[in-house]
Amino acid sequence: MSSDITHPVVRPRRLRTTAALRRLVAETSLEARQLVLPVFVREGLGDSEGPRPISSMPGVVQHTRSSLLAAVTEAAELGLGGVMLFGIPEHKDAEGTGAVDPDGILNRSIRDVVGEVGDALPVMADLCLDEFTDHGHCGVLTGDGRVDNDATLAIYAEMARAQAAAGVDLVGPSGMMDGQVGVIRQALDGAGHTDVAILAYSAKYASAFYGPFREAVDSSLQGDRRTYQQDGANAVEGVREALLDVAEGADLVMVKPALAYLDVLRRVRDAVDVPVAAYNISGEYSMLEAAAANGWIDREPAILETLLSIRRAGADVVLTYWAAEAARLLAR
Ligand code: PBG
Repeated sequence: MSSDITHPVVRPRRLRTTAALRRLVAETSLEARQLVLPVFVREGLGDSEGPRPISSMPGVVQHTRSSLLAAVTEAAELGLGGVMLFGIPEHKDAEGTGAVDPDGILNRSIRDVVGEVGDALPVMADLCLDEFTDHGHCGVLTGDGRVDNDATLAIYAEMARAQAAAGVDLVGPSGMMDGQVGVIRQALDGAGHTDVAILAYSAKYASAFYGPFREAVDSSLQGDRRTYQQDGANAVEGVREALLDVAEGADLVMVKPALAYLDVLRRVRDAVDVPVAAYNISGEYSMLEAAAANGWIDREPAILETLLSIRRAGADVVLTYWAAEAARLLAR
């Protein structure tokens, strides 16, 4: 093809001429149905007090029972892909017994939310002990203070049965214990819950960007999770974790965090044959909100560009605290 310096023959700009043309050739879409809203519900928070703001996550709250139901009803009306529930118990102990108690805050809230939205909105729940343990780790500890993988698996099995009995559609094991997906699948099937799906937090990295979440769930953690969450240096290992989870029966796999791990997300998307989710986590949310609050960034386009980047990198599903707002922006 002939071209000279001043008159190129090939002109990619031609397809960018109008908004309608750009829409015609857009490779990646961002739709409400792809977005999942994580929600926090706090035990003992009364309606008189109302939802409690999380200072490090402006716009995100710890819900009361009734504000939670309002939020999930709105999520269903907006056509979101789902909600992911996190419970904050009043009392914690070394074994995280609140997690397996049918009347614990998380299991009770699952029942409430499913009663409210029925099949109109997929209801997901975090399946992990860290909100329920007084030491803040995702599993129970050995006598010398290490996280005991296999003892934790037995509790996860019980937690999965409790969440399924409460009516959850998908469980989200996020504790990064080896073998957790297989054990949970067996536990669910053994109790007749063959239709409850597993959204596995497969490639979950130890990250500084979880900081604001620790406030969101009143975490008791001292130290870090580096003996079970992955080292940020490792992408091949992220693919390995995802493949293992698919082999153990995961229905969807997740990469988390999203933004600092978009390369892992792409590799996982190319390696597996199940839907892939990514979690646009608390620190990613708070950074953008802080910049916007300072007038340093144009908030709404920055939110949509962030979510689109995660979709483009390979996520079929995006968990984001902006899910409801983004759905409203997309409908404009
Ligand atoms: C563990 C869990 C965490 C998040 C989701 N599930 C915290 C952690 O692993 O330390 C983080 C979510 C976020 O930062 O938005 N139950």
